Amino acid sequence: MKELTVRPDIYRFEQCEDFAAQFALGKDDLIITNEYIFEPYFGSLHLPSQIIHLEKYGTGEPTDDMVEALYRDITRPYTRVVAIGGGTVLDVGKVFSLKNIHPVLKLYDNMDNLEREKKLVLVPTTCGTGSEVTNIAILSLVSLGTKKGLAVDCLYADQAVLIPRLLEKLPFKVFAASSIDALIHSVESSLSPKRNGTTLLFGYRAIEIILNGYREIAKNGPDARFSLLPEFLRASNYAGIAFGNAGCAAVHALSYPLGAAYRVPHGESNYAVFIGVMKNYMELKRDGPIDRLNTYMAALLGCKKTAVYGELEKLLSHLIERKPLSAYGVTRDEIVTFTDSVLANQQRLLANNFVPLDRDRILKIYRELY
Ligand SMILES: [Fe+2]
Repeated sequence: MKELTVRPDIYRFEQCEDFAAQFALGKDDLIITNEYIFEPYFGSLHLPSQIIHLEKYGTGEPTDDMVEALYRDITRPYTRVVAIGGGTVLDVGKVFSLKNIHPVLKLYDNMDNLEREKKLVLVPTTCGTGSEVTNIAILSLVSLGTKKGLAVDCLYADQAVLIPRLLEKLPFKVFAASSIDALIHSVESSLSPKRNGTTLLFGYRAIEIILNGYREIAKNGPDARFSLLPEFLRASNYAGIAFGNAGCAAVHALSYPLGAAYRVPHGESNYAVFIGVMKNYMELKRDGPIDRLNTYMAALLGCKKTAVYGELEKLLSHLIERKPLSAYGVTRDEIVTFTDSVLANQQRLLANNFVPLDRDRILKIYRELY
């Protein structure tokens, strides 16, 4: 049985100039990025590449409509995609490395036959998605009202490039939501039936880095994050390796309808359902991997194992507010729609649940979080 795949070569640079020089960024490259990220760090290099600013096509998480509009605007042929940005940018970059990307919705019907056409370099500028090392591209499918992942090996990058200074301009809220996403990747992958000793190595280490970092931020305030960014970027990368192999599960599955319907940022919508899912797992099974995980997190948090979720929530409250579903505008009837959408569209994720969750249990979780 395969133990671990890390497909891209992973690079780390202190300076963006060194990355641009070593990777010989040039006219045959399609750079997908955001202007506010790209200009301060790469603008003075006057790269001859075709540069696309994704925000021109809409804000928030990537949609099939955004990909279609961008596709129409590409004017020059390219041999390599270089995506420099958050999860949205990286996931769109992955799609543009494929052959026959139009119409986008068709990619989902044809997942087993997708083909890669261009080289792909992914440079994350948040510390959350771990997308630089996974084979997953998530798009919001506007017509279906949910998010769906393309998950095929031809979506692995050739190179993942970590440049911690690119995270320096992240607003605190974005830092918080993205790093909570990384924490959830580590937790979900550590409970997945597909976990193994090697994925746990990456998942547990990511949890340690993130919780230690959060404790420092809770003690010294939001600015304490700046000196921790290299470590948070590493943790997000480790969490990406862990969940890229062992998978994410119910937290992501239940968060997708909320994220898609109310455009809640990914990390925040995950956090909205995170503790609710964990408590329900505990109602169904308290021993084995969840017990080991809770013991590990309790030691990091300096609390008793039985108090671990309360302590975790207290710590996370320094970073982000956890809101009930009703605060986003979700109605009680919609909980049923969300549940059916999860069952219809998220089986890829539900297969990795720590314990199976049936329809009644998913409804119960949403109701408790309402
Ligand atoms: Fe995620």
